[in-house]
Amino acid sequence: MIQINELTKVYKLTKKQMMEKKTKKNMVKAVDNLSLTAKPGEIYGLLGPNGAGKTTVLRCVASLLKPTGGDIKVNGFDTVKDSQNVRKVIGFLTNEIKLDPQFSPRYMFGFFGRLHGLDEDAIEERREKLFDYFGIKDFQDKKIEELSSGMKQKASLAVSLVHDPDVIIFDEPTNGLDIITARNVTDYLKLLRDEGKTVIISTHIMTEAEKLCDRIGIIISGVLAMEGTLAEILERTSTKELEDAFFELYKMHSREED
Ligand SMILES: Nc1ncnc2c1ncn2[C@@H]1O[C@H](COP(=O)(O)OP(=O)(O)OP(=O)(O)O)[C@@H](O)[C@H]1O
Ligand SMILES: [Mg+2]
Repeated sequence: MIQINELTKVYKLTKKQMMEKKTKKNMVKAVDNLSLTAKPGEIYGLLGPNGAGKTTVLRCVASLLKPTGGDIKVNGFDTVKDSQNVRKVIGFLTNEIKLDPQFSPRYMFGFFGRLHGLDEDAIEERREKLFDYFGIKDFQDKKIEELSSGMKQKASLAVSLVHDPDVIIFDEPTNGLDIITARNVTDYLKLLRDEGKTVIISTHIMTEAEKLCDRIGIIISGVLAMEGTLAEILERTSTKELEDAFFELYKMHSREED
């Protein structure tokens, strides 16, 4: 269970970042008073455009970033006060986490397995299962630096699941994957959901949100613009497709900002 309660995250910008962003403001409010709950046995999808705040929300949930305001509980543990316990129960995947280029997927899997306190037999059993499922065996002993981006993504996925976490936090999990592997990943997420795990993902792919997610939260400029099942969102926006609903909300929201 993930309970986000009035989360606000403000980044302070360095002079260099201010120049790059061509702004005079030295702060960015990436997430603005956002509350949501993701329950066991469901896949919650955070859908939003580039820069909406998806990665920021997920990094806060994963206890890697400290909220500026509000709080987050993961299986009852506070992400600031109890980050150790939070990290034990979560599997976190993001594009920014890089596996060490010198080592092989097999080595990295073992390394993270031991870090989570698994014994060698348990690691072996998990490796067999996950490497087989994601088709990693063919390149499990190659150096990470020799792998394609899709292969790296598959290896990162497997590594993030080594300890069979209860709560799965995946930032754009199908990023860079071909349709076969992407389907593999989304099918696996459904399997985890059906085992009763809590799954939260971010995406900007409408069909992924439509097909995969039990509930969708549309985030625009750090604000949760709407939340619900696909059917609920379509009804409330009087649209027939998620893409249309998204544009409706986007228009409304950018008007509010003007
Ligand atoms: N470390 C940081 N320092 C300063 N600003 C940041 C930092 N990380 C993100 N931001 C800003 O916060 C806002 C939200 O960024 P975030 O990465 O959470 O968006 P996102 O929804 O994940 O976007 P994308 O779809 O491109 O991955 C953006 O304006 C971004 O420029
Ligand atoms: Mg992101």
